[in-house]
Amino acid sequence: MPSLRIVLVATCFASASAGACTPVDSCPKLSDGLYCPVNDVTEHADINRDVKLIKDHLKANDYTSAKAVYTGGSFSSKGGGIMRTLQALAQKDMTVNGKYTNVFFSGALDLYGSIDGIWHNYIIACLDDTGFCAGKSHDFKSYIINKCLIGVVTAYATYELGAAVWKAGENMTADDEAAYAWDEGAAFHIGNIEPVIGDGYTGKAPGNLYSPYEFNWKRDDDFDDGLSTHAAAPPTLNFGLLNVRGTYNAANVASAQLAMYKIYSIAAIRSALKYANKAYNNGTFQEKYLAEGWAYWRSASGYISTVNKTIVQQVDALFDLSLTDMPADTDCTIKSLLEPMYPDLGITCAMVGTWKDVREISGHCLATACDDTGNSATLGDSSTAWVDMCKAIPSTSESEMENSGFTASVAAAMPLSILAIFF
Ligand SMILES: *[C@@H]1O[C@H](CO)[C@@H](O)[C@H](O)[C@H]1NC(C)=O
Ligand SMILES: *[C@@H]1O[C@H](CO)[C@@H](O)[C@H](O)[C@H]1NC(C)=O
Ligand SMILES: *[C@@H]1O[C@H](CO)[C@@H](O)[C@H](O)[C@H]1NC(C)=O
Repeated sequence: MPSLRIVLVATCFASASAGACTPVDSCPKLSDGLYCPVNDVTEHADINRDVKLIKDHLKANDYTSAKAVYTGGSFSSKGGGIMRTLQALAQKDMTVNGKYTNVFFSGALDLYGSIDGIWHNYIIACLDDTGFCAGKSHDFKSYIINKCLIGVVTAYATYELGAAVWKAGENMTADDEAAYAWDEGAAFHIGNIEPVIGDGYTGKAPGNLYSPYEFNWKRDDDFDDGLSTHAAAPPTLNFGLLNVRGTYNAANVASAQLAMYKIYSIAAIRSALKYANKAYNNGTFQEKYLAEGWAYWRSASGYISTVNKTIVQQVDALFDLSLTDMPADTDCTIKSLLEPMYPDLGITCAMVGTWKDVREISGHCLATACDDTGNSATLGDSSTAWVDMCKAIPSTSESEMENSGFTASVAAAMPLSILAIFF
């Protein structure tokens, strides 16, 4: 993979157009190493580094620093010394007063009553040890915060896709218009941290990406007889990019957007099944897995509620965060509640697959997938004809730069004269 960091610094010198790459055909790729953005979306992808940094602070029991990153940002600059923050993402009106259509977000808003009621209030309560989170265990609090942040970035990816659809509908099909918003969606989804193992696409989830893409990938590893949702996303996003660029094909772009919603739904459903089971834990309740199941289920519950809100509310109740016990049959109950929704969600039992940990347990309700008779849903079209604007950059070694403590925010804050000494 080409060095991701050096390219970012290079763009400090020439900012002709908001997202233009410098040189123009050398856009930095993302962690998957496949999707080629037609803009430099490094800073957008960098928000996933904030997710990782918060996790690291929490691991060290440092809630103060974790909160500072949430509210003030760290890695993701919007330029001019202004940081993009996870808090601002969590508090975004993702329809911009109804200008954009985003059923993924409006479904969540309808379920949870206010924008802050979706993620922000939960994150703050656990950072501050207040409200529902007061006195909870460190594991519970950090699981809520870490997993909520994945949901925040997931939702923000859908916001950018919705923005791209709106722009393309206004004939804004230049690379720095709808395609830029679409690329931002891809950047939030995938992130740009270099995988510690593997190529960022095949094999097992590397575990260090901290993006929605990696969350989906972990569930792919768990449900390894179902659809590989992380692998499906880059070609799906590329199909959308090709269809917002230059000539807008509304049906194709809508299909790509919907396919991303389906991918997120599958990850949420798999998580609900797995973590209901793990919270029960053969009778020894695991509170942190209640937190994980609750947050990951919520990452797509807004969209799923557009099919049947009542059912989603029933599943929400099964993950009530005040539970002190998880009944043995909750995983089975969730399975039977959700499976009838698959046709309307445009997904299948085969796509969801089965969780490998219980697959061999004879008679376990999660051991077998449901029956797809009459359900011929497909994910949607995709394309591996990647754009040819991501040629490798001859570069200094990335590790040298990182070892020198040279970071995006440092670079952004420096006058060009000082920055120049680094080259
Ligand atoms: C976009 O372009 C098409 C074809 O030129 C035109 O018919 C349509 O009115 C334009 N839409 C907007 C919103 O400008
Ligand atoms: C739970 O109990 C079942 C049946 O006794 C056993 O097969 C399974 O391994 C146990 N699971 C865990 C996580 O202990
Ligand atoms: C939602 O599911 C419930 C239970 O299956 C069903 O009674 C109800 O009609 C469904 N609602 C919609 C809008 O499909």
